[in-house]
Amino acid sequence: MSIKRIGILTAGGDCPGLNAVVRAVSKNALKHGVEVLGFKNGFDGLVRNEFINITNHTVSGILTLGGTILGSSNIANPFNYTLPPFGSPETPRDLSSVVMHNFKENRLDALITIGGDGTLHMSQQFVDMGMPIVAVPKTIDNDLSATDQTFGFDSALAIATEAIDRLHTTAQSHHRVMIVETMGRYAGWIALRSAIAGGGDIVLIPEIPYNDNVIVNAILERKNRGKNFSLVVAAEGAKNEQGEQAVARTVAGSTDAIRLGGIANKLSQMIEDKTGIESRACVLGHTQRGGTPTAFDRWLSTLYGAKAFDMVLEGKFGYMAALHAFKMTEVKISDAISNLKRVDPHGEEVRAALEVGMSFGSAEIG
Ligand code: F6P
Repeated sequence: MSIKRIGILTAGGDCPGLNAVVRAVSKNALKHGVEVLGFKNGFDGLVRNEFINITNHTVSGILTLGGTILGSSNIANPFNYTLPPFGSPETPRDLSSVVMHNFKENRLDALITIGGDGTLHMSQQFVDMGMPIVAVPKTIDNDLSATDQTFGFDSALAIATEAIDRLHTTAQSHHRVMIVETMGRYAGWIALRSAIAGGGDIVLIPEIPYNDNVIVNAILERKNRGKNFSLVVAAEGAKNEQGEQAVARTVAGSTDAIRLGGIANKLSQMIEDKTGIESRACVLGHTQRGGTPTAFDRWLSTLYGAKAFDMVLEGKFGYMAALHAFKMTEVKISDAISNLKRVDPHGEEVRAALEVGMSFGSAEIG
């Protein structure tokens, strides 16, 4: 099949590196004389038929730019569409046929979707309806098992690590406990790796249930050793032994409606009450998704983008570009969405953290 025209979209939560992928796909496509339509705000652009014609000029200078020039959305789900004027949270609609129609009307030969878990699910649904899609895995959470690393994660990790470094000095000056809340949804990768890189004292991740008393004892034990400050890194999805997580809000229309958040403030109060040591919470939030990508993410995004268009030329539809042992490869989208990649509580990263004296706030692990 000869490829003359492709669509591209960025969906889900944004992250550093999206523009670098858009650039790599587009440059590769334009070099082959293939037209590129950039749909706006994820799948919403295919519902509303809103797009830009991407030229070399459009993608010039965007390699280092954070965010996405195409816009993104983590609530525009064509299969459960809640956005006005075509839908509402009360009366969600299935507008997948509109997307199929617009795809055909625009005479597209393929679509490249750049997104995380939710986007991959929608992509697979459209693949099942006959749309030729190649996917690129994005998420700061790094929770996709089918690839060694998603782009965006390294940048989020760098931001979280720098924040921990900065909080270290102020915690030390004021003899306080600082609790840093990182993102990551149901996976503890950002928290664990930034805590290891930043020398955190206690790290709480969703994969290892914590106990308040173990956290308190770890802080008091440090104090007894003359360390009159502590750094706690808490993943937003960390759970206590009762399985309770801090939920900030729910978002109608999103493939996963739950938005986690609030654990740092909760822990700060508990720690201050139980230890008598002044405590402060710092929620890193969306700073972890903003700004310029790291060198690694620029490299990885460029490889992903170039590979994704090569896959279109090879007719590898229903597949996702993936990184395995520093080499680009392909996996079925359906395989990529079947398993979340989570921290192994008995794996070498947790063991290394324990060996350098970190606590996971758990009596079971440690
Ligand atoms: O999946 C990326 C992510 O940043 C998660 O780490 C976080 O839980 C969520 O998205 C936040 O979503 P929103 O941008 O809707 O607040």
